[in-house]
Amino acid sequence: MSSPFLWGVASSAFQIEGALDEDGRGPSVWDVFSERPGAVRDGHSPALACDHYHRWAEDVELLDRLGVNAYRFSLAWPRVVPTGRGAVNGAGLDFYDHLVDSLLARGIAPVPTLFHWDLPLALEEAGGWSERDTAHAFAEYAAAAADRLGDRVDRWITLNEPLVHTTYGHALGVHAPGRILEVPEVMRVAHHMLLAHGLAAGELRSRGLEVLLTNNYSPVSPATGSEADTAAAHAYDTLHNRLFTDPVLTGAYPDLSAFGVAEVPGVREGDLKAVAGSADGLGINYYNPTVATAPDEGSGLPFGFGEVAGAPVTAFGWPVVPEGLGRTIDLLRGRHGDALPPLYVTENGCSYEDRVSPGGRIADPERIAYLEGHVAEVEAARERGADVRGYFVWTLTDNFEWAEGYHQRFGLVHVDRATQARTPKDSFSWYRDLVAARTASADA
Ligand code: BGC
Repeated sequence: MSSPFLWGVASSAFQIEGALDEDGRGPSVWDVFSERPGAVRDGHSPALACDHYHRWAEDVELLDRLGVNAYRFSLAWPRVVPTGRGAVNGAGLDFYDHLVDSLLARGIAPVPTLFHWDLPLALEEAGGWSERDTAHAFAEYAAAAADRLGDRVDRWITLNEPLVHTTYGHALGVHAPGRILEVPEVMRVAHHMLLAHGLAAGELRSRGLEVLLTNNYSPVSPATGSEADTAAAHAYDTLHNRLFTDPVLTGAYPDLSAFGVAEVPGVREGDLKAVAGSADGLGINYYNPTVATAPDEGSGLPFGFGEVAGAPVTAFGWPVVPEGLGRTIDLLRGRHGDALPPLYVTENGCSYEDRVSPGGRIADPERIAYLEGHVAEVEAARERGADVRGYFVWTLTDNFEWAEGYHQRFGLVHVDRATQARTPKDSFSWYRDLVAARTASADA
């Protein structure tokens, strides 16, 4: 029997857990970055987040009520290995162990991500992702996590959106660790993250486990047919859709000459071999497409951003274009053909300013329309022959949205920041009904 299609929701440790200094967790880059004045909108603190570390059983109950058959969450590296390398914190692993058992008891497949941006601070102090050693530390951590959970969890995601962590965290400085590096040094960070994925994949596969890499993808169009806009779109596509995919599927970096990079710094013999073919599945996080324009003078980048015309926008200002998800899937298939492993939409969702009505109901018709449109794209792509094996809504509960603090609400479940009360929104019931209908027709 083939495995059932995965209908799930996704979350990440730092955005929901809180309990930053409990049970031996070490500090992460986000703990300190979020304390920098101006780093997080209105100075919102991640210290409590959704208090999921204490309320996880209630959150698993919500998953059960939702009827999903998969849950994507992340392990906090600093909970498992508090100083990034060396001693493993058993109590940190206990937390995920209990979570996994509780999910399995309800027929929900756990899909853990090993790195969703919360690098242990001790590693950052030793140079972070600029250092090759960080990749080796990641592989050791992956091995420790797999040794504890691999008897019950067979599908693992190594990294979440390495491009976003690389560029927002190391080029733009708007995410932790808040570094602003020159382009070649940014590419060194990228390489060490890819290497980390490749080495961890080796550890996971040697234990008979399946390995996924999750990237953020965005189909790119030039603002006009001009040569300059077309070149900009090409450059952005290379960065966003190829840098962390081509090496895994083809064993080579794409041409980075538009970025003034002839050779990616830090690549040693054998590195690309460790990376090539290292994914049994690709995770697609899709939110919106991109329109590229020729860069502004002096920007130092080979592209600028235009507007996606005619699309409604979310509270984040992101254009709502469901067809972009279908285009992304087609783009990957067209580009990589038979080398493309099975696909999973590991994140898709939207933020809106949801309001609780006096009766306690939260009507979020825009979110329902957003999700409906995107699910339809996945199903149409499957009909065209795409091997898509899962779809995960971002996210279960409104949570700590990085530099936006608690301002952007992406959840199917509303969280009252003062009381932590969870209230399912209308989209929760909509998704529950969709999952039930799809599961019933798959069983029929
Ligand atoms: C990230 C999530 C984030 C979401 C919405 C994705 O890029 O993986 O952590 O909350 O987008 O911004």
